[in-house]
Amino acid sequence: MEQGQWREARRLVREARRVVALTGAGISAESGVPTFRDAGGLWRSYRPEELATPEALIRDPRTVLEWYAWRRSRLSRCRPNAGHRALARFFLKRGEAGLVTQNVDGLHTHAALEEAGDAPPDPALPIELHGAVGRDRCNGCETRWPAEPLADSLPRCASCGDLRRPDVVLFGETLDPEVLERARLLAERADLCLVVGTSAVVYPAAALPLATRESGGHIVEVNVRSTALTEAATVALRGEAGTVLPALLD
Ligand code: APR
Repeated sequence: MEQGQWREARRLVREARRVVALTGAGISAESGVPTFRDAGGLWRSYRPEELATPEALIRDPRTVLEWYAWRRSRLSRCRPNAGHRALARFFLKRGEAGLVTQNVDGLHTHAALEEAGDAPPDPALPIELHGAVGRDRCNGCETRWPAEPLADSLPRCASCGDLRRPDVVLFGETLDPEVLERARLLAERADLCLVVGTSAVVYPAAALPLATRESGGHIVEVNVRSTALTEAATVALRGEAGTVLPALLD
């Protein structure tokens, strides 16, 4: 890694008054969670339009719910890695929330709870832009529950009878406006945005680092390769998140 870039990244972290971090699937790759668009990524083997859209959910709910049940069972064997933990320690030490994720795997939350120990984990708890696969919600009345194993009959909401589905944002669905607004305010007020393990092609998430830059802040990107956001970054650190983040933040 180019020494000058590294020194500049450390200076930006050291001098930042407010930090926001946006993470994507790449931060969980070292925990065994497949990314979406890389070689071996989910969208290389599966067609999102058949599995992750509201139309697919209406057309063939069984297949969509089985796919998410499969993803849940895989995730249940995954643990937060050194990258998740370094970010959790960083925000716990700063005592100020700033973590925003596109991931639905819940690994940032696990890292926050484990790194916090008896202390309140709140500063390290993520804003989950795309929801969480560990939760269900009603497709009708939006009631939420912890996820349950899929039974033979399709799961129904006890209050309105509509379909229970994973509490994730499917392609073509809008993000929860309150969740998005909280993330947008964090990004706008930050003077440093750490962008970790995302191809930065999915909006509105990919607009958040640009909001930091537009308000005079800097972007530091951590990724194994260049992305749609690299040109907008003040510093681009190339390497695996599990290696770069502890060295940058601890
Ligand atoms: N460390 C750092 N970066 C990594 C690592 C790693 N160990 N492994 C992969 N990456 C990078 C890749 O180079 C790529 O830029 O992570 C990125 C993963 O990109 P995507 O697979 O496109 O995932 P993401 O950006 O999170 O996708 C955004 O798209 O499919 C939807 O809703 C889904 O939240 C997801 C959104």
